[in-house]
Amino acid sequence: MSAQIISGTEIAARIREELTAKVTGLKRDHGLTPGLATVLVGDDPASHMYVGMKNKAAAKMGIHSRQITLAADTSQDELLGVVAGLNADPDIHGILVQFPLPDHLDEARVTEATSPDKDVDGLGPMNAGRLMTGSGEFFAPCTPAAVIEMLVRSGHDPAGRHVVVLGRSNLVGQPLANLLLRKAPGGNATVTVCHSRTPDLAAVARTAEILVVAIGRPEMITAAMVAPGAVVIDVGTHRVDDPASEKGYRVCGDVRFDEVKEVAAAISPSPGGVGPMTITMLLSNTVASAARSAGS
Ligand SMILES: NC(=O)c1ccc[n+]([C@@H]2O[C@H](COP(=O)([O-])OP(=O)(O)OC[C@H]3O[C@@H](n4cnc5c(N)ncnc54)[C@H](OP(=O)(O)O)[C@@H]3O)[C@@H](O)[C@H]2O)c1
Repeated sequence: MSAQIISGTEIAARIREELTAKVTGLKRDHGLTPGLATVLVGDDPASHMYVGMKNKAAAKMGIHSRQITLAADTSQDELLGVVAGLNADPDIHGILVQFPLPDHLDEARVTEATSPDKDVDGLGPMNAGRLMTGSGEFFAPCTPAAVIEMLVRSGHDPAGRHVVVLGRSNLVGQPLANLLLRKAPGGNATVTVCHSRTPDLAAVARTAEILVVAIGRPEMITAAMVAPGAVVIDVGTHRVDDPASEKGYRVCGDVRFDEVKEVAAAISPSPGGVGPMTITMLLSNTVASAARSAGS
């Protein structure tokens, strides 16, 4: 059996078309252009690449994007001052401070300082709290939201299914578990969360009807850890040495794609899976924030 491939690239392209139509509508009906501010501190090449990809994707769908690049030795107060300025700027509907920040800066203070109405990364305490309590509107964190969209849009609604999430980080595993548990579309799953202290991870993973892997270990998940017919979403993304490739490296996920696709009913690749969808969810939250500000 060879699995259905859940292509994040293809699903993202469809959602971006829908978002482009919404952006056009906001401009036409409200004279409002959604604005996304990205803040980059220091010169980490991967962070520069991620911010560049986000700005490019935003511009392509008519979202105004503003990149603020700060020196690596920017102080905490200077950074908080930039965030405060963006909180007050009516042309900006979404703020993304690219992490990781240099060691002397406190990431939690930055997420706490970002206005909940513009926290399109969904990582601040207000949005995280609303997600957990089910009270009020919130921005879902982008990577967990990407996983839910991929499942629903590929015909694998998690409602009523047993989902095993491998990983409990604040960025991915934990908010994903909360989204899956919600009494709302994309939720209503039965959820098990595993982490580095889980005894016999393989045995738990094999109980999953839907297995979401976010452990940050290149190709750790083998076919023997996946139940025949399960749906597998691979959040992991790694650059590993590969002397056989022209570039000297290749990109892979947490899952051994080639062997697991022979067991699973459906699987997302990495690259080409959760990555492009995560950027799309950031843009979706930005458009939603602009629509809210227009009362639309
Ligand atoms: N494509 C995207 O847009 C995107 C976005 C975010 C992250 N990612 C990728 O997703 C992966 C996870 O990211 P993250 O930020 O959640 O990573 P993280 O903060 O390092 O968390 C990893 C989680 O996996 C658990 N874990 C680690 N090794 C394990 C093992 N051997 N057995 C069982 N559990 C284990 C850890 O357990 P403990 O809590 O016990 O330490 C932790 O909960 C990474 O590869 C990252 O690059 C991709």
